Amino acid sequence: MEFVLDTADISAIKEYDELLNLAGVTTNPTIITKSGKKPEEVIKELVDYLRLDQKLFIQSVSTDFDGIMEEARYICGLRPENTYVKIPVTREGLKAIKAAKAEGLNVLATAIYSADEAFLAALNGADYLAPYVNRMCNYGDGVGQTIDLINMLAAQGVESKVIAASFKSVEQVHELIAAGIQAVTVQPDVVKQMVDHPGTEIAVDEFTENWNKAYGRKTLR
Ligand code: G3P
Repeated sequence: MEFVLDTADISAIKEYDELLNLAGVTTNPTIITKSGKKPEEVIKELVDYLRLDQKLFIQSVSTDFDGIMEEARYICGLRPENTYVKIPVTREGLKAIKAAKAEGLNVLATAIYSADEAFLAALNGADYLAPYVNRMCNYGDGVGQTIDLINMLAAQGVESKVIAASFKSVEQVHELIAAGIQAVTVQPDVVKQMVDHPGTEIAVDEFTENWNKAYGRKTLR
């Protein structure tokens, strides 16, 4: 199971890469604009920082077939391996996903709002499918639809992996991991909530306090 960070913030990437076993980083155009930096600069930082065994996912910005294909070739050529173009599942996008896979490019189908559009992208050969779990909750049960998708792929023997995205709570992430999802991409604020449980901090403070009272020091020896 792959745990991926959904950010272009290099300091957050470094912070969680030290703490966790990060499988890679996903970005999208909005995430890159939020950095306040030029896109070339952000992309270079990501390419320079990530190890080659960590996956890098960058989204196409063009919305027409030719534009998406040109950007897909550029993105996938940024590193020798483990580099994926994210393509939204519009009509032009579906066409591009099919063509990009025929060219042997690594593809993540994104901006997915239903299990059905994800499944069609899977049949077009997408390596990863990114349902926008929290946004899907505006139209129904985002977690439930994503679980349906996992089951649809398994039932039909389709190999695309589901990398759920757009989480707004730890519970959403939890439910999908428990359901057997192959990958999640989580924004740093939600990862922080998973990592920093206040109960753990309280327990450790109590151990230290009791030890210090008994032995007059805060170390084992
Ligand atoms: O990876 C897609 C994700 O970044 C979208 O998240 O928070 O804009 O719904 P959000």
